[in-house]
Amino acid sequence: MTEHIFPTWKDKRMPVKSHWENTYASKTAEKLGWYKPHLLTSLRLIGATGADKTARVIDVGGGASTLVDDLLAIGFAHVTVLDVSATALSTARSRLGAAADRVRWLEGDIRTLRMDEDHYDIWHDRAVFHFLTGAEDRRRYVGALRRALRADGHVIMGTFSHEAPPRCSGLEVRRYTLELLCSELGAEFQPQEHKTEMHTTPGGVRQMYLYARFRRQDRPKSPAS
Ligand SMILES: C[S@@+](CC[C@H](N)C(=O)[O-])C[C@H]1O[C@@H](n2cnc3c(N)ncnc32)[C@H](O)[C@@H]1O
Repeated sequence: MTEHIFPTWKDKRMPVKSHWENTYASKTAEKLGWYKPHLLTSLRLIGATGADKTARVIDVGGGASTLVDDLLAIGFAHVTVLDVSATALSTARSRLGAAADRVRWLEGDIRTLRMDEDHYDIWHDRAVFHFLTGAEDRRRYVGALRRALRADGHVIMGTFSHEAPPRCSGLEVRRYTLELLCSELGAEFQPQEHKTEMHTTPGGVRQMYLYARFRRQDRPKSPAS
């Protein structure tokens, strides 16, 4: 059991990028296991935050997903898509055409990218966090989230649930209950609602997802204040 004794992120950084570049290069977006024509549950949860259309939204590991198209279509003015795969981002940009200029595109690894501080109102992640099977990787992810999200901001996570298969896209995944997700994010992220939802891949594999919406609490005030 030596997995977490040494930080693993340095060793994994290049393989992670090449894994995802190869994956996106090997199939069209519609053939990928996580593909959905529209991320309706994510859109509903973003709507449920009550944030207005000036909110800054980041789709972490957004890949080639159409969430950005739909957010622009309903009027969100400040959308960022971050992904480790340049190929995935380029697919999304080409699909959007001129509208791509209204989006901030960040190519990088969420575990190592230096995020803008207190910048985003809404952090969305569908099917990214569950690939972080090492404790140090998750610590880095949550560090990026805590740095980038404003106090009072919203977090929407879609992960494999404990009923899902143990692997996806050829990689091991960590499967979540709400309790486990809460314990990973920490007590400042308060769950507001959650649901499980079955996703069937284009190849017919059934994967149960857990979606959860969190609200970041203001940093605790000192007893004297
Ligand atoms: C299963 S796909 C989900 C894509 C998209 N969120 C969706 O729901 O359609 C996982 C995505 O996370 C990206 N990814 C994986 N590890 C990452 C990391 N460490 N930093 C940034 N992006 C990452 C991959 O390139 C890929 O686009």
